[in-house]
Amino acid sequence: MSLILGIDTSCDDTTAAVVENGTKVLSNIVSNQTEVHKKYGGIVPELASRRHIEMIWPVVDEALKAANIKLEDLSGVAACHGPGLIGSLLVGCSFAKALCYSKGIPLVAVNHLEGHIFSCFLSERGPVGETEFPPRTPSFPFLALIVSGGHTCLYRVDDFGKYRELGRTRDDAAGEAYDKVSKLLGLGYPGGPIIEKIAQDGNPKAIDFPRAYLPESFDFSFSGLKTAVLNFVKEQRAESREQRVNDIAASFQASIIDVLVRKTEWAIKKEGIKRVVLTGGVAANRELRRRMKEMGDEREVEIFTPSASFCTDNAAMIASAGYYHLEAGDTVGLDLNPKAYMPL
Ligand code: KG4
Ligand code: ZN
Repeated sequence: MSLILGIDTSCDDTTAAVVENGTKVLSNIVSNQTEVHKKYGGIVPELASRRHIEMIWPVVDEALKAANIKLEDLSGVAACHGPGLIGSLLVGCSFAKALCYSKGIPLVAVNHLEGHIFSCFLSERGPVGETEFPPRTPSFPFLALIVSGGHTCLYRVDDFGKYRELGRTRDDAAGEAYDKVSKLLGLGYPGGPIIEKIAQDGNPKAIDFPRAYLPESFDFSFSGLKTAVLNFVKEQRAESREQRVNDIAASFQASIIDVLVRKTEWAIKKEGIKRVVLTGGVAANRELRRRMKEMGDEREVEIFTPSASFCTDNAAMIASAGYYHLEAGDTVGLDLNPKAYMPL
């Protein structure tokens, strides 16, 4: 049996998890910093690093206790070494290195985006085949759409370790657009869940916001949409008109979802692949999940959406990817250096 402790501090969540044999989640602890950053409407990197330093040991300790294991039981420690905020990454990596050094445990390094892809193999109930309700996991090859606050990218995944980027955002990530639009509407942070909620009472066809399909590539662009929302709000203020904020939120969300679903559909056609993994923080959005599933049903494509707690940043996904690295003998030394920019 292999027990991996995953650690991810790439952004504003301090996370640690214990995963058995790459799939069974024994614990998954997330300490979020929403309270620290919300008054700024976005993440302040310096504050994020300081908070990680305070939280890393309590979070790791809680992950071990919840899994009912001791450090000595671990087969390895998997640390996320990028991409992300460099000060934040340094906290998790340094902590992981210290643990491995003091206990003589192997260390593996995991790319945050690879972690997001591996979220589709996780199960809280148990490994595939041993459970009453085995989790549905994709076979290779599959497409992976990662939509979060820091990333919006589409990969073709041919095997463990074999990833080909088909497209990425040229400017804002989808989650970043949610956060910025929420801020400009005065709704709060993080924007995604707030906009999703109020959009339920809005008309998605009320305002025809732009959709950047960029038909010549699989890249994405969401900054024009954000500017269009800003201009709309300014204009209606100048003209003393008042569109319901629910309609603005619903129309904005419809634009994002139309683009994500349509581009995934094109990639399915071009690559001839019938399996799609939808993950990352924005993949927690129920309307996006519903629309992607609807498209999948029409095209007879299987859509895999990990549970919301595995879509948003977590360390269980890092431990899962770490398990496969460890099995392949792909360990790293204590000179591991995280990097802010790290393509998969
Ligand atoms: O994956 P994640 O936890 O962290 C990053 O790697 O960025 O994603 C966080 C992002 C935030 O921008 C947040 O607003 C967005 O995911 N998000 C959502 C929802 N829940 C979180 N966006 C839309 N709908 C949601 N329900
Ligand atoms: Zn992420």
